[in-house]
Amino acid sequence: MDHFIYRNGTLYAEDVPLSEIAANVGTPFYVYSTATLQRHYQVFDEALAGMDHLVCYAMKANSNMAVLRIMADLGAGMDVVSGGEYARAITAGVPGEKIVFSGVGKTRAEMHAALTQGIRQFNVESEPEMRVLNEVALELGKVAPIAVRVNPDVDAKTHAKIATGKSENKFGIPISKARAVYAEAAAMEGLEVVGIDVHIGSQLTDLAPYEAAFSKVADLTRELRADGHDIRRLDLGGGLGIPYTRSNEAPPLPMEYGDVIRRTLGDLGCEIEIEPGRLIAGNAGLLVTSVIYRKEGEGRDFLIVDAAMNDLVRPAMYDAHHDIVPVAEPAPGAEQHPVDIVGPVCETGDTFAKQRDLPMLQAGDLVAFRSAGAYGAVMASEYNTRPLIPEVLVNGDQFAVVRPRPTYEDMINRDTIPDWMT
Ligand code: LLP
Repeated sequence: MDHFIYRNGTLYAEDVPLSEIAANVGTPFYVYSTATLQRHYQVFDEALAGMDHLVCYAMKANSNMAVLRIMADLGAGMDVVSGGEYARAITAGVPGEKIVFSGVGKTRAEMHAALTQGIRQFNVESEPEMRVLNEVALELGKVAPIAVRVNPDVDAKTHAKIATGKSENKFGIPISKARAVYAEAAAMEGLEVVGIDVHIGSQLTDLAPYEAAFSKVADLTRELRADGHDIRRLDLGGGLGIPYTRSNEAPPLPMEYGDVIRRTLGDLGCEIEIEPGRLIAGNAGLLVTSVIYRKEGEGRDFLIVDAAMNDLVRPAMYDAHHDIVPVAEPAPGAEQHPVDIVGPVCETGDTFAKQRDLPMLQAGDLVAFRSAGAYGAVMASEYNTRPLIPEVLVNGDQFAVVRPRPTYEDMINRDTIPDWMT
């Protein structure tokens, strides 16, 4: 069920008309649906029913504190990739024993913070990192629980910039080297091997690469156990894709993904961890923007909106498609016209969509970009000194600004002038 639907001729987020939010907070803004976030967490939880498991929300997709609180209140674990994300998880009330620390370049300071405040496990990505973690743990008189991220050399069949499971990618250690690396880890007093980690990419729309990767992990589990390692946890990463278009895409459901896990790994008696991000947050959020101008170019029309590539970078960065819909519901049979939807930033890359059929929209009209709840606000910047846009959370008929728009002064005053200039 979708919580962004037309009612009485206008688009709603749950029980709140988007036009009401626009009138209150101004455009552009992100808006998230609590009910959708909760439901998406629950479908993963249910998909793994019957297996000992923990759903660790990959907060890189959307790390707004209010979103994290929703996840924490549901009992979710968190997958973090930086000291900053770790601090957010702790602040949201997630206990250290539910936080998994991923990422290829963890620093000593990040390891120190997590070891002191509590951590479920570090997903170690290289031998040098493993040795540093051992040192930091010994310095603190602690033992760091680890899983080694293995790279299974599987093609995830997704966009090249977000595929991570091929041997040419920077992630993990080659699965062929795993036994040697685990032997080295077992000999380190500051480390305790607890499991294996794998993540092959993001926006996967086919289960076959998962099946291939998980089968390799199953074989490796048996081998490592035979070598004497106590492999009791398998972290399977995230990556399940979402429909970005309403018409022709139907990625596999979390239930089917759960069945692949059960089939490939279910008999090993391991606790299963997954790290979904996009599927939880992506279709739980919209970006709402206003048309500033409709410009008639030569042979094509442009809709210049008040959101830009700095607010939602996915189209510019990955040629990503986001459905774009008018907030006022078009009359049935209303005439559609192809337009390019662009932002005000001075780059041709600041193009959200080309030749999209939309009703005749005019300056002041509101449009919504769908599927913008994941990798939207978190990837925004203040390029062109455009303030980060506000984030709004809806819950039933209530809404609240969960990150306000900074003022120009806020932005300007973050910079300081050195003494020698004053
Ligand atoms: N775990 C690890 C180790 C990851 O690297 C990622 C995503 C996830 C979990 C979550 O994957 P998800 O379930 O969200 O697919 N900015 C890009 C996506 C980058 C994904 C990076 N890693 C985009 O906008 O498409």
